[in-house]
Amino acid sequence: MFLTVSQLKKAFPQKNKEDYTVFSKIEFEVQEGEFVSILGPSGCGKSTLLHIIGGLEQPTEGKVLMNGEEISEAGPDRGFVFQEAALMPWLSVQENVMFGLKHLPKEEAKQVALDHLKLVHLSRFADSYPHELSGGMRQRVSIARALAMNPNVLLMDEPFGALDEQTRMMMHKELQDIWMKTKKTILFITHNIREAIQLSDRIIVMGTRPGRIMKEITVDIPRPRPSTHPDFIQLETEIMDQLSGEISKVMQEELGYDYSI
Ligand SMILES: Nc1ncnc2c1ncn2[C@@H]1O[C@H](COP(=O)(O)OP(=O)(O)OP(=O)(O)O)[C@@H](O)[C@H]1O
Ligand SMILES: [Mg+2]
Repeated sequence: MFLTVSQLKKAFPQKNKEDYTVFSKIEFEVQEGEFVSILGPSGCGKSTLLHIIGGLEQPTEGKVLMNGEEISEAGPDRGFVFQEAALMPWLSVQENVMFGLKHLPKEEAKQVALDHLKLVHLSRFADSYPHELSGGMRQRVSIARALAMNPNVLLMDEPFGALDEQTRMMMHKELQDIWMKTKKTILFITHNIREAIQLSDRIIVMGTRPGRIMKEITVDIPRPRPSTHPDFIQLETEIMDQLSGEISKVMQEELGYDYSI
């Protein structure tokens, strides 16, 4: 198996209290070339899980295997795209994409960067600076930057969460095209049900307190997937029902027991 997550648990120590367990017994597999989303309410541990897979954090228990080898630290085989593009403002778009390519001769790095800017339809903006771009464009640069390093898997943590609805829809199409062209394995985190259905081969639905996997759903609606397709609506309702109990649980904890939906 390409990526295997096995019996993963993460707990954080707390002052004068028992450790806080974010999630436990997380177990799933991802095949090469698959687009898998992890969908769950705020605080269920999605980012923590992605950081462990990326090697940015260590699990308390369990392990992550990539091509049979245990992951213990960050590496160029796993590319990250976060909610904020985190580009360097003093570098041009092309130089931002070249940043992770210092091991290549300069001319080659320039070409690789340009090829990836073409992939995200931004080659015209190679010499622009991040502040001259829209939010959606900045996110496309950060996707180009991650892909330019030719990772085995792209780890995306709510990459379109800060974008307006129209830009988000455009980015869905763009990401789907990129995925089809590059055949990259993508692990995509979101708490947006529609986004997960739109993009994924498979959706892993997480619950919270403690974080755990509630369900794995294979989405076999043919792409492109209009959100008005009856199968789309049915799946959306099904997931919504499943998650509303979880969200209600969190709201009750945070707002008190007089809260109900
Ligand atoms: N370094 C840390 N120390 C202590 N607790 C942490 C740490 N990092 C995360 N947590 C806690 O772990 C829980 C899960 O956090 P995480 O950011 O992984 O959730 P999430 O599912 O990504 O949420 P969101 O959808 O809001 O991004 C939260 O309750 C958070 O407070
Ligand atoms: Mg998060």
